Amino acid sequence: MIEVSRLVKKFGSFTAVDDLSFEVRPGELFGFLGPNGAGKTTTIHILCTLLAPTSGAASINGFNCLTQPQEVRRRIGIIFQDPSLDERLTAWENLEFHGMIYHLPKGLRRKRMEEVLVLVELSERRHSIVKTFSGGMKRRLEVARGLMHQPQVLFLDEPTIGLDPQTRHRLWGTIERLSRADRMTVFLTTHSMEEASLCDRVLILDRGKLVALDRPQALVAQHRAKNLEEVFLALTGHDLRDNGASEAEISRASVRRLKRWR
Ligand SMILES: Nc1ncnc2c1ncn2[C@@H]1O[C@H](COP(=O)(O)OP(=O)(O)OP(=O)(O)O)[C@@H](O)[C@H]1O
Ligand SMILES: [Mg+2]
Repeated sequence: MIEVSRLVKKFGSFTAVDDLSFEVRPGELFGFLGPNGAGKTTTIHILCTLLAPTSGAASINGFNCLTQPQEVRRRIGIIFQDPSLDERLTAWENLEFHGMIYHLPKGLRRKRMEEVLVLVELSERRHSIVKTFSGGMKRRLEVARGLMHQPQVLFLDEPTIGLDPQTRHRLWGTIERLSRADRMTVFLTTHSMEEASLCDRVLILDRGKLVALDRPQALVAQHRAKNLEEVFLALTGHDLRDNGASEAEISRASVRRLKRWR
């Protein structure tokens, strides 16, 4: 359903996605993991036709993301990492606007709006202004919007970030149902290894490169690890990417300084 072949994305001299190749099967619940700055969002933006690759190719259900963007867009739904609702509008208006962009005829549009609101449990709040929603409600509304046009592939870039455990579990229930019952292909990023463990397969990306791709249980077994988090840390090493030193190194250095001072 998704094919990525030797994909490269450079920003100036910096390589964000580095010769990446993989495939996602129809109906698969696919986890796309990696430390901050690994290139996950960049890859998703290329797959969603929002960014052109420097080289290589990507396609959705056989349609090329670069040369057939309209065909691709019709088949995908996307929940962005950054909030993208119009906060001044009501939930209903946000969905209506999305349906119009996708040229859903009025009857079908209204039907879908009702359905997706039920799915994310926001029917009662349909006429509230989005600005008055909690973070979790906004996230659920974004999921509802992504599902309006019944996409074959749903991209979710950190869908559960900042949600309380209840909302997270409910949202995961919805995601799993869409994948298992409706056979929708789901491509998601998460920093929660607990969530990643629920995926059919996970890909681990580090500095733009693929470092692992397999079923979570298979990766845990291959690395003789206790869980996926151990595998992730073993493969991607250093805990913090943006700062040179790890927290442990910083605290070791300050202990040394303290000893010298005494
Ligand atoms: N438009 C841009 N111009 C320059 N550099 C960029 C641009 N977009 C992304 N990058 C860089 O590319 C790298 C990958 O960014 P990306 O957003 O894909 O990471 P990510 O894996 O989604 O990280 P996170 O887990 O923090 O969301 C980062 O180093 C980022 O600074
Ligand atoms: Mg990201």
